[in-house]
Amino acid sequence: MRIVETELLVIGGGVAGAYAALTARSYGADVTLACKTPLTGGSTRWAQGGIAAPLAQGDEEAHALDTLKAGRGLCEPETVQAFVRDARSHVETLRDLGVTFSPHVTLEGGHSRARIRHTGDSTGHSISLALAGALGAARGPALNVLEGAFVRNLRVSGGAVVGADLLTPDGPVQVRAGAVLLATGGFGRLYPVTTAPPEGTGDGLGLAWQAGAALRDLEFVQFHPTAVVRSGAAFLVTEAARGEGGRLLNARGERFMERYDPALELAPRDVVARAIAAEIAATGRVDLDLRHLGAAFVRSRFPTVTASLAPLGLDLGADLIPVQPAVHYTMGGVQTDVQGRTGVPGLYAAGEVASSGLHGANRLASNSLSEGLVFGARAARAALAVLKPVPART
Ligand code: SIN
Repeated sequence: MRIVETELLVIGGGVAGAYAALTARSYGADVTLACKTPLTGGSTRWAQGGIAAPLAQGDEEAHALDTLKAGRGLCEPETVQAFVRDARSHVETLRDLGVTFSPHVTLEGGHSRARIRHTGDSTGHSISLALAGALGAARGPALNVLEGAFVRNLRVSGGAVVGADLLTPDGPVQVRAGAVLLATGGFGRLYPVTTAPPEGTGDGLGLAWQAGAALRDLEFVQFHPTAVVRSGAAFLVTEAARGEGGRLLNARGERFMERYDPALELAPRDVVARAIAAEIAATGRVDLDLRHLGAAFVRSRFPTVTASLAPLGLDLGADLIPVQPAVHYTMGGVQTDVQGRTGVPGLYAAGEVASSGLHGANRLASNSLSEGLVFGARAARAALAVLKPVPART
């Protein structure tokens, strides 16, 4: 069997894993990144609406408050503070890596002001490509990327995680690592109607559990309010569509959100999803209406959604779009502290696989891409700090 020795093994190639690997490399660490898909796989590339971060220092408090409110009193305040403090500079790093955000920032449910940066409606895809490009450029003896690698188990010795056993396209590989960082995403695919990618099967939670880590808040599963569901497959219509002024109508043509929340369509996601489910039960259907925004604007602002709906015979700019809630994000996961440390020495977690306390019972829209950056970087630092001196964060 092939044996790979590395300082840090990162499992997962989405935003949290890719950014953790790049961060660790920037500290001079020897890194191996293993992911079961190609590098641009995972749910990151599916994210449409954008990436939330305080626009300026003065926005940190408001962003923290919005995050705490959406989380229904169950966020860890220290984690939320760390998130809003760090997020903006990491988003700037994405710019340095070549992500060209629109000068227009948008609004989404639960945000008290427009602070979502985006690249149209394919923000996750742009970020995924930029991170994969940076990893590709850094690939070499000190950055080993194993794509198509399925992790069978973590290796545990003396109560600490010391590596993993992988199945790769080239055969089994034993990775001996100073530390392992899980960034394997959530478990949305355990549900029949979900916007999660096929690979979102919760593998990281199982691996961590078997290694002795605690899992937390698994009951907090987020439904995205506006999925278009055909033949059991759910396609997301980004929350930014409501951020730009999209309205929700029931089968009687009523703008029913007036009866549920003063923020109307921009109430937090859990409120809107429950309202839609209730209105579908009561009236038979709910539609998203963007027609008043003008077809040309809608098609150019949301080209990905427009193109995806076209084969269904639906025109986002000109038709009522039938929507329903679908499982979208899993708040619970491997319990970590604010540095991404699990309770098991040598094991770290970041991104959707982790339960860092950022989201509480309900994630604020567009906090997940920035979560991946902030906690991917924090977990990488924490893991390396045990192995070698790590310079202070600038
Ligand atoms: C969306 O674009 O509506 C998804 C954003 C998110 O899940 O935060």
